[in-house]
Amino acid sequence: MKGFFLSLEGIEGTGKSTQARLLAAYLKSRGYRVVQTAEPGGTPISLKIRELLLSHDSREMDPITELLLYNAARVQHIREVIAPALTRGDIAISDRFSDSTLAYQGYGRGIDRQVIDALDAVATGCMRPNLTLILDVDVETGLRRNKEMKKNDRLELEDVTFHQKVRKGFHEIAAAEPERIRIISCSDSIEAVHEAIKKAVTPYLKKRG
Ligand code: TMP
Repeated sequence: MKGFFLSLEGIEGTGKSTQARLLAAYLKSRGYRVVQTAEPGGTPISLKIRELLLSHDSREMDPITELLLYNAARVQHIREVIAPALTRGDIAISDRFSDSTLAYQGYGRGIDRQVIDALDAVATGCMRPNLTLILDVDVETGLRRNKEMKKNDRLELEDVTFHQKVRKGFHEIAAAEPERIRIISCSDSIEAVHEAIKKAVTPYLKKRG
């Protein structure tokens, strides 16, 4: 596909959505056509699945149900938003993609890697972003920031140990694919993080021409 697919990843409270918005605005100002989207979500069907996944009423949800639903939302998201954007030659920026599934459902919940990979192959055909930026902050800071923003969906209610496992997962995922994945520290100001993101993205876009 002609376009460029960029995902932003990370634990809770890294400021991914803000950074996705700033990056999209910056790239648009440079003349790129950009589609900014998010998982789980991006389409009406995926948003309904998101509600189900993140509602406090879903406390009893089995981890495998959770895994299947994130994948289901992703199928629809790729079909309706990401693939058409890349076919048009646009830049698609997604706030989360399949690395979140490996980090949260794999490392966090402890679901077997082979199961995660098998479902990923069905849902995405092993599609990967051209570039993934993992925004990184320590778990305590991330959870505190989310609390300040009054964000408390079902996964944010998990204990610190769960989020530490997820963070470790993201670090291991990054180490395994250094060509595709960069870690960006988010302890600094929003502006400083935005600058670091611009610096990471620019060479990839130049290479693409
Ligand atoms: P958000 O808060 O970044 O919108 O993400 C929603 C929540 O869903 C967040 O707690 C991370 C979680 N999540 C997974 O557990 N697995 C996934 O595959 C995705 C995309 C998100």
